[in-house]
Amino acid sequence: MVRPDGARLTGPMTAGTTLVLGSTGKTGRRVVRALRSRGVPTRAASRSAETHFDWNDRATWPAVLRDVRAAYLVAPEEPDLAAEFVKTATAAGVERFVVLSGRGVDVWAQRAGADQSMIAAERAVRDSGAEWAIMRANNFAQNFSEDLYHAPLLAGRLALPTGGVPEPFVDADDLAEVAVALLTEDGHAGRTYELSGPRALGYAEAVDIIARASGRRMRFVELTPEQYEAELRADGVEDPWVGLYTSLFEVTREGLLAEPVDGVRQVLDREPTDFESYVAAAVAAGAWR
Ligand SMILES: NC(=O)c1ccc[n+]([C@@H]2O[C@H](COP(=O)([O-])OP(=O)(O)OC[C@H]3O[C@@H](n4cnc5c(N)ncnc54)[C@H](OP(=O)(O)O)[C@@H]3O)[C@@H](O)[C@H]2O)c1
Repeated sequence: MVRPDGARLTGPMTAGTTLVLGSTGKTGRRVVRALRSRGVPTRAASRSAETHFDWNDRATWPAVLRDVRAAYLVAPEEPDLAAEFVKTATAAGVERFVVLSGRGVDVWAQRAGADQSMIAAERAVRDSGAEWAIMRANNFAQNFSEDLYHAPLLAGRLALPTGGVPEPFVDADDLAEVAVALLTEDGHAGRTYELSGPRALGYAEAVDIIARASGRRMRFVELTPEQYEAELRADGVEDPWVGLYTSLFEVTREGLLAEPVDGVRQVLDREPTDFESYVAAAVAAGAWR
């Protein structure tokens, strides 16, 4: 639609299909659920999702892009693939990208050996000529119930080199709500939102809250970076991953992620979910049974 002065008007993006990559992951599956509950036609894609998509198999790309107007992008491990995919997607008619990224990524991606996947995905959409919005998230609360920290907690001991520096963990349900707003509403084009929970808490405090709420014995052990690296190697973690995990905690120890930020309030006009509420919901769902 074109205004009399020639400017293009874009309505809320509810027509066309919305593509969700990483749709079986912590944020993606919540984004799919939230979009569908609002009646937005949604294509859920990943290697094991209802629509098959593999970053490493370009033959799977065209089908996921058919009739898509907006896409939620979880960065591929291989950084160069993001730009190639975004180029293919814009040529196929995708008008809007929402990228999941990490807080402080512009600082830590410059370090030797640092993971480049998220900064490359950000660059790909910024350079695309399409509308874009970026979500720079703190570490997710759900890491304790669905990811890296879950198995150690069930075994009773989570040991990390955090330097005692607290972090305002962000709830993946809040991230999904933000993603839906950025995918479907106007007014976010060209914006980069920093997203955290409402309060910074140390990992020891976080584990204590989970232990009390779940009734399980769990403790947090503070490690030196050298001890952490030795534990990762003893667990059979291989080289690039050892480097990645240890560099992530450098960022934590430097305090780059420690201050709460107001991106959730900016987008959703409400406070972010606090850690205790996340834990209560996860306990009710049987996360640490
Ligand atoms: N966890 C955190 O605290 C945190 C904080 C800030 C930023 N981030 C960023 O968030 C992103 C991860 O998002 P998430 O936690 O929502 O996802 P996730 O739980 O890590 O799951 C990864 C998703 O990607 C899909 N996937 C993996 N390899 C694929 C491939 N080759 N082709 C197609 N799909 C593939 C997986 O599905 P299939 O296995 O079915 O393919 C899954 O849906 C990463 O970029 C991470 O750096 C994480």
